[in-house]
Amino acid sequence: MIHLKFNYEKVLPFIGRQEIHGYQEAIESHFLAIRERTGKGSDFLGWTELPSSTDETLIKKIETAATRFREMSEVSVVVGIGGSYLGARAVIEALSPHFPLLRKKAGNPVMLYAGNNISEDYLAELLQVLDEKEYTLTVISKSGTTTEPALAFRLLREHMEKKYGKEEARNRIIAITDKEKGALKQLATEEGYETFVVPDDVGGRYSVLTPVGLLPIAVAGFDIRALLQGARYMQEFLQTTSQIDENPAAAYAAVRNALYAKGKTIEIMVNYEPALFYFTEWWKQLYGESEGKENKGIFPAGVSNTTDLHSMGQYIQEGNRILFETVLSVERPKHNLVVPAEEANLDKLNYIAGKRIHEVNRMAELGTALAHVDGGVPNLKVTLPEINETTLGELIYFYEMACAVSGYLLGINPFDQPGVEAYKRNMFALLGKPGFEEETERIREKLN
Ligand code: PA5
Repeated sequence: MIHLKFNYEKVLPFIGRQEIHGYQEAIESHFLAIRERTGKGSDFLGWTELPSSTDETLIKKIETAATRFREMSEVSVVVGIGGSYLGARAVIEALSPHFPLLRKKAGNPVMLYAGNNISEDYLAELLQVLDEKEYTLTVISKSGTTTEPALAFRLLREHMEKKYGKEEARNRIIAITDKEKGALKQLATEEGYETFVVPDDVGGRYSVLTPVGLLPIAVAGFDIRALLQGARYMQEFLQTTSQIDENPAAAYAAVRNALYAKGKTIEIMVNYEPALFYFTEWWKQLYGESEGKENKGIFPAGVSNTTDLHSMGQYIQEGNRILFETVLSVERPKHNLVVPAEEANLDKLNYIAGKRIHEVNRMAELGTALAHVDGGVPNLKVTLPEINETTLGELIYFYEMACAVSGYLLGINPFDQPGVEAYKRNMFALLGKPGFEEETERIREKLN
């Protein structure tokens, strides 16, 4: 049984059930194409089997490495970008206490991230932090050649070798990369770093259930077996049927495509728990990079409520009607806190005295959904009973499968990303990278 629920009742004022069910036949053929690996990009369907096929040997190897890192880290740095970064961070942030002081108290290393930007100030300040802390480093790059993580790793490696000496630094670095190609693989072999492999048939944004996500999540102190178990529940459940009324990934894929066909070209993922901020970031990458091609695709955006009700809320309620939203709703918080009663009642909040804070949050969520539907914004809802490793595992697999099916419904290849090369070519040309001389000349002419 799965814990996740998907509900699209608040879409029905905008599209009929028959329009949604109009996708049934296509969905069946896409599920079949995924199972039989006959659709576009089918060389990259390894993620579909990860929950059931990740074996005990690999899990143990990850747990052993994580324990070793945890014992010698006040801080553990994860170097990576895009799919080699967001999945781990999404899960770690969702499961961690909100405040650094509480994270420290829990006895887990502080997880820091690098290689996901090229900010000199960010990197310089990170090095300042690392001057004062015992730290370890996991560098993740499937290709092994991505500029941002390579640059950060060069700086961090130098820092680490100065701080600990070359021998000890080797002990404090783990590389996760291709099994044989790329600069990172070569460096890891030459230096003798412990390594984990990103499977050939799993693309970056679908890689959170490989060592790419599992190792940092385990280093941060979380239960990767429960995460995989949750994903396995979802994998098994989605295999039982592809009926829109029973299979939540089929329903989500059908509804969002039906809305897209009606001109709803932006989907906003809405959370009411700040711990889910990075989960939204992971989802944005998964859907944006998978579907945004051939001049098509729903633009994935995110808001964190109720914070953003005081900023983006105005646009969502009354702006251009090209939006729909998917609320990621959590039924139970981890803690129990009620609104205190106050004799003076100057803030006039006694009418909610004695209520759980979560109840107030839930009413904000419901009230907002109703207002948005009235304002012309279709509302979808994904509900988790609570945030834990198991439910996050379910959620990850649900979104991955729905993304693949939704991309196929759109007629694109959900597993490639040809567009991300464009900025790289220009950046390399501008920086004078050998081999880019022609581009350098062309781009300089453009700039003159
Ligand atoms: O999803 C993807 O494929 C990308 O976001 C990559 O993960 C990202 O570009 C990083 O690539 P790499 O792991 O090769 O450094």
